[in-house]
Amino acid sequence: MYALVTGASAGIGMEMAKYLGTLGYDLILSARSENRLEQTRRVILGRYPDRSVHLMPADLSRREECFRLYRDASALAGDDGISFVANNAGMGVYGLFLETDLEKELDLIDLNVTSVHILSKLFLRDMVKKGRGVLLNVGSCAGFMAGPTFSSYYASKNYVVRLTEAIHEELRRAGSPVKVSCLCPGPTDTAFNRNSGVAVSGKQISAVQAAKEGVDGALRGKMIVIPGRKMPIIVTASRLMGEHLSTRINYLLQVKKAGPS
Ligand SMILES: NC(=O)c1ccc[n+]([C@@H]2O[C@H](COP(=O)([O-])OP(=O)(O)OC[C@H]3O[C@@H](n4cnc5c(N)ncnc54)[C@H](OP(=O)(O)O)[C@@H]3O)[C@@H](O)[C@H]2O)c1
Repeated sequence: MYALVTGASAGIGMEMAKYLGTLGYDLILSARSENRLEQTRRVILGRYPDRSVHLMPADLSRREECFRLYRDASALAGDDGISFVANNAGMGVYGLFLETDLEKELDLIDLNVTSVHILSKLFLRDMVKKGRGVLLNVGSCAGFMAGPTFSSYYASKNYVVRLTEAIHEELRRAGSPVKVSCLCPGPTDTAFNRNSGVAVSGKQISAVQAAKEGVDGALRGKMIVIPGRKMPIIVTASRLMGEHLSTRINYLLQVKKAGPS
């Protein structure tokens, strides 16, 4: 029973891989950094020496590497196929839209949107044929709103949330046993914000909590999983206040978060 986790070299993805290991899955770990993937593998094998843990380094902002990952992971899993896919790798680019670097934002769209789209479609087709499997896409609470000063990131996560909700409903209508979920964390204590040029103040949930709630929610077939107690309330409040007010408030909150880039 294989689980594939992208972005498994750090943060939420690393914790998902460890948690899926405790649940009995053999693992395929992907990210760009083979060294850091190797560290994740060592931790998992230290706890569960009987697991198979395979590393498939890939830059998923490149389309051909998404297709290669799909081919190699599917070939490894053989007839059983991949039982659990976590599309977790993601990046952010902080700054005013007119000032942010276009190349970085195109990489963001390729990673956060295109790779999630490609891997969701290819793995889901196989899962539906086999009549089993779980797909967990990692969105964000940012996926329910607009994010002035972090615009492309918020927009990319809106794509992930809406795509996943739509697929979830299509499969539900078709009576498919395949489960499709979107994990939508709020601020989580990983390197993500620092790498994106965002300074986070205030309480964050741990990557362990985000990963565990995400995997558990996906195994139960929940369409949307918002980990923690605070963020479900904030998302509901933002919906109730409407788009204009929520976007204005987000500007005021986000503009204070300029960190060292
Ligand atoms: N932390 C938060 O506050 C937060 C909140 C909501 C949602 N999220 C989402 O949670 C997911 C995981 O983020 P995190 O917080 O765990 O961040 P993180 O600690 O920075 O981890 C990001 C992971 O993605 C991988 N990655 C980055 N660029 C990649 C590329 N081009 N190709 C393949 N892998 C790549 C990184 O590995 P390499 O560098 O080795 O490639 C790393 O394993 C992301 O989708 C993020 O948007 C995070």
